[in-house]
Amino acid sequence: MTARKTAVVVLAAGKGTRMKSNLPKVLHPIAGRAMVHHVLAAAAELAAERTVVVLAPGMDPVAKAVAPATVAIQDPPLGTGHAVLAAADALEGFDGDVIVAFADTPLVTAATYRMMLERRRADDNPAVVVLGFTPEDPGAYGRLVMKKDRLKRIVEAKDADEEELAIRLCNAGLMVIDGRHALDLLRGIGNDNAKGEFYLTDIVGIARERDMHCAVVEAPEAEVMGVNSRSELAKAEAIWQRRRREHFMDEGVTLADPDTVYFSADTILGRDVTIGPNVVFGPGVSVEDGVRIDAFCHIEGAHIASGARIGPFARLRPGADIGEDAHIGNFVEIKKAVIEKGAKANHLSYIGDARVGAQANIGAGTITCNYDGFAKHFTDIGAGAFIGSNTALVAPVKVGDGALVGAGSVITSPVAEDAIAVTRAPQKQIPGGAAKFRSKNAKQKVKG
Ligand code: UD1
Ligand code: CA
Repeated sequence: MTARKTAVVVLAAGKGTRMKSNLPKVLHPIAGRAMVHHVLAAAAELAAERTVVVLAPGMDPVAKAVAPATVAIQDPPLGTGHAVLAAADALEGFDGDVIVAFADTPLVTAATYRMMLERRRADDNPAVVVLGFTPEDPGAYGRLVMKKDRLKRIVEAKDADEEELAIRLCNAGLMVIDGRHALDLLRGIGNDNAKGEFYLTDIVGIARERDMHCAVVEAPEAEVMGVNSRSELAKAEAIWQRRRREHFMDEGVTLADPDTVYFSADTILGRDVTIGPNVVFGPGVSVEDGVRIDAFCHIEGAHIASGARIGPFARLRPGADIGEDAHIGNFVEIKKAVIEKGAKANHLSYIGDARVGAQANIGAGTITCNYDGFAKHFTDIGAGAFIGSNTALVAPVKVGDGALVGAGSVITSPVAEDAIAVTRAPQKQIPGGAAKFRSKNAKQKVKG
């Protein structure tokens, strides 16, 4: 590819009425990341000189979310062609290539944008390259009218005649325009059509009138689907998840039942990570090499070091930092806590706002009582400590290295290094008491 520069204009001014949402459409997430950010992330991979997001007046939450990207306001939105012109200031004097991306078409990969750019820069020098696809149901998509291998024009479904409607090759909406002609061509677009809008798609006919030509490159339908409703949002999520599962398996991750594991856009997994069925990764998770995560875990905002074992049925919440070879077992919840190397909490525990020292053992049912109704307090458990089952550690509290806490204790003051602490009431025993109890009750039952 030559060293031509690239600009990206992301169209996001549409109302998105079919989402029936108070949240602007392009902020709806796929894999925990707003749709517009998926598009900006792909654009970032292209190292574009300029990136402009086109918004309508009043879309301040979107402007805030995309900062520091440049925002252009289209006031009022009068169609996709008009939308690109809202970014005219940023395109004035730009002689590279202009990518027009749609914020509601979030699954397009950087590789596809690159393919479009390459086609634009090919020797035959097309003024416009349009991204096409062949959907199962062409429905309301614009139709690409071809003449041999050149694009003659694009006709919107609403404006198409019967013959045009029968065309299977459709417009994905995205384009690359030669920046040297972009503003001139865009300014030639009118609004004499069924919707009375300035259609970006008309740029093709205009280029041809001016003795330039236009080309098409094709992408799979799954990549170019537009999101206009909640149902399409769910469909896009499913496609994204499928893609990411394949990606991780290619990178050396074992998924026992891939279709049941859900990732976030920022999930990081090392090699030889093994994940059981029904595991959900929320945002902010990184997992090092050789970790095993068994079935039914929910993990969010957590780091898991190499060799650790998690689950089944574990919940890691934000700030969980699981050390090398540590074990977090079933029905254990960890929040904002460092579990150091080789430590174990294998059954039925809540560990929050805490440190668990290396090789410490947390017995079944241990709870860090971190909250007093007003503030959160810290529990510090030393290396090699042993916390007996069903212990309540009332924070703030510290258990020293190598200390032992007897089962069922309620620990409210510091336990010294290598000490034993136990707070149980002494055990009473009545010899034969159980037998007496039974015979007395049995007699009463007969009488009653
Ligand atoms: C558009 C194409 C159609 C194509 C389809 C693919 C046109 C005229 N039609 O139709 O050929 O098959 O996409 O999905 O381009 N937007 C603005 N300002 C506006 C209008 C729209 O920024 O004034 C933005 C929207 O936020 C959206 C994108 O442009 O991100 C596409 O607009 P939309 O109205 O959804 O176009 P379609 O009718 O789907
Ligand atoms: Ca659309």
